[in-house]
Amino acid sequence: MMTVGLDALSFDIPQNYINLIDLAQARGVDPGKYTSGLGQREMAVSSPCEDPVTLAAGAGRRALRNFDIDPNQIGLVIVGTETGIDHSKPVSIYVHELLGLPQYCRAFEVKHACYGAMAGLSMATHWIQSGKAKGRAALVIASDIARYGLNSAGEPTQGAGAVAMIISENPRLLEFDVRNEGYYSKQVMDFWRPNYSKEAVVDGHYSISCYLEALTGSYQTYKQNFISSSSYLGHSGHSGARFLDRFAACLYHVPFVKMAQKAHQRLLEADACIAFEKGSPQMQAAVSDFLARVSPSLELNARVGNIYTGSLFLSLLNFLEDHSDLATGSPISLFGYGSGCAAEFMSAVVLEGASSLMKQHSFRKILSHRKQIDIPTYEKLILASAQADLNNTEVCKPELWNIQNPILYLGTRDHKRQYTTSSSS
Ligand code: CAA
Repeated sequence: MMTVGLDALSFDIPQNYINLIDLAQARGVDPGKYTSGLGQREMAVSSPCEDPVTLAAGAGRRALRNFDIDPNQIGLVIVGTETGIDHSKPVSIYVHELLGLPQYCRAFEVKHACYGAMAGLSMATHWIQSGKAKGRAALVIASDIARYGLNSAGEPTQGAGAVAMIISENPRLLEFDVRNEGYYSKQVMDFWRPNYSKEAVVDGHYSISCYLEALTGSYQTYKQNFISSSSYLGHSGHSGARFLDRFAACLYHVPFVKMAQKAHQRLLEADACIAFEKGSPQMQAAVSDFLARVSPSLELNARVGNIYTGSLFLSLLNFLEDHSDLATGSPISLFGYGSGCAAEFMSAVVLEGASSLMKQHSFRKILSHRKQIDIPTYEKLILASAQADLNNTEVCKPELWNIQNPILYLGTRDHKRQYTTSSSS
């Protein structure tokens, strides 16, 4: 069977961010709620000159350049986003132009809340595996700006950014297990964004239970598929013989860091067929396991915030750069969840050299170029961004906000979005 996997991975974030302790103080909330209760430290804040197109193109450009891939090699570009910029025109076609992709390259957008990019990844994998790619690669980009509104319960779980992935038949980072995937779909009203609103509507606590139900459902299906398609007789390498122990790292959709902890505990409970009681030895073991196999890959998520469809892949980027050297040849798990809802559980094997390739373009270097802003400036940016798409508005001037990104949104003129890019940086 043909090998298909991840050949390149990069990301892009807005130029500005806030510290969540500052936000907690401004909202009169105990900072421990945001830092320890939700597990978040910082939050990316987009300006009117940064939108899902500029972030997607920035991430895509970095992936092509950092991994030395000729744009003419790309035969398919898919953008997963739930913060699209037009009811009809997809983000992907702007990205196609900004990256100079060839006209024989198919381009389209996928929407299903935070599941969009995972669906795109699956589609790209199957396109290559079918032989229709004829040796070409696919570029899958997750790009979103998460907004719940000022003073809302969801405010500390906002963020913005994009992750770009290049999928090919000669991957350098991960090989996907194309035989085993677990899916879950159910119509639920946990989180949505009506066409007339820039901000999401969310039933916060219900959304957490929908996520956990979808996780258990897709995991059980993956597990059944895996057991029936292999000679799997139980995992005996670790005490307890849990199915989950076959993964060197477990990566989840991360709307906020603590959600990944809840998710990991839920899978350990699913393997044990019991719910762990607070303070029990099983609960303590679940926390230790989370600290060993999940938490080390969550620094980026804690410092960028929720980027919706890209948040799982942000955690993957963190894992590949920081921890994959100890996991060469081992499987890792990936869980994607999109409200509404759709979920997918899949796995991949870490390839030799992945860690050193990722380290050459360290994410910490990109984070260090950001600028911290105070809460009044953040509020001004949020309010101005709400005006950004109004025809002929003046708020998208980069000099007004001191934005120096190489790819910029300059606002809408005659109802047409305007972008600029400098080729040097
Ligand atoms: N010190 C330490 N911890 C504290 C604390 C303090 N002073 N005060 C509260 N906490 C803890 C709470 O105990 C709680 O932890 P547990 O869940 O482990 O019990 C945590 O901090 C959060 O407290 P609350 O539940 O009281 O917070 P809240 O009601 O204000 O809202 C939220 C939390 C529901 C996540 C809200 O931020 C929200 O609606 N966020 C957006 C929705 C979301 O992210 N849903 C996730 C699943 S859906 C999904 O994944 C799709 C997606 O991307 C949106």
